[in-house]
Amino acid sequence: MATTTKFRLNPEPPLPAHRLEILLEEEEIRNRITEMSRNVREVLGNKDPIFVCVLKGAFMFVADLARQLDFPFSIDFLRASSYGDSVVTSGEVRMDLDLQQSISNRHVLIVEDIVDTGLTVKYLKANLETRNPASVRVCTLLHKPANNVKLAPLDFCGFEIPNHFVVGYGLDWQGYYRNLPHIAQVHEIGD
Ligand code: IMP
Ligand code: MG
Repeated sequence: MATTTKFRLNPEPPLPAHRLEILLEEEEIRNRITEMSRNVREVLGNKDPIFVCVLKGAFMFVADLARQLDFPFSIDFLRASSYGDSVVTSGEVRMDLDLQQSISNRHVLIVEDIVDTGLTVKYLKANLETRNPASVRVCTLLHKPANNVKLAPLDFCGFEIPNHFVVGYGLDWQGYYRNLPHIAQVHEIGD
């Protein structure tokens, strides 16, 4: 069985043989986002911020975070990629889709699914900082400190996780598993 017992995809996605082990349950994620929303409110609640959701992985996180925030803010989207379809980072970051709104004089919160090496966040921060924002902060649900070479400080971080490839809650493996309500570690079988 490829997927977890809690949420089995039927049929299973066309991926190499593997099993999934739940790392963060749906409820743990929800509770942590509630805590994070309080921290975000303290810092940005009266600043009319603009959230920059980094597609595709952060779509679920930003949707759940946004619904816990009871102050005015806007949301825009960009798409950055560094991975391609591989589970090993290529080290290169591209912006495939840019923001629609101006961030000039706005307080920006970059919302990411996961910070691994930190290259993506470093690149995005540097890019957005050239557009005259009032400030740029980073909020990530997951962080793998093992690979992080302290390229960019994280202002809000949900969970620090071990250096394993994970899927679910917006994060994918070759486009699959974004719909899992929990976060699971991938164990490939037979390599
Ligand atoms: P970084 O530039 O190395 O920090 O990588 C960040 C990006 O790589 C994230 O926004 C994800 O899209 C992707 N990524 C890193 N680790 C994982 C993982 O374990 N599962 C799925 N995607 C990942
Ligand atoms: Mg991402």
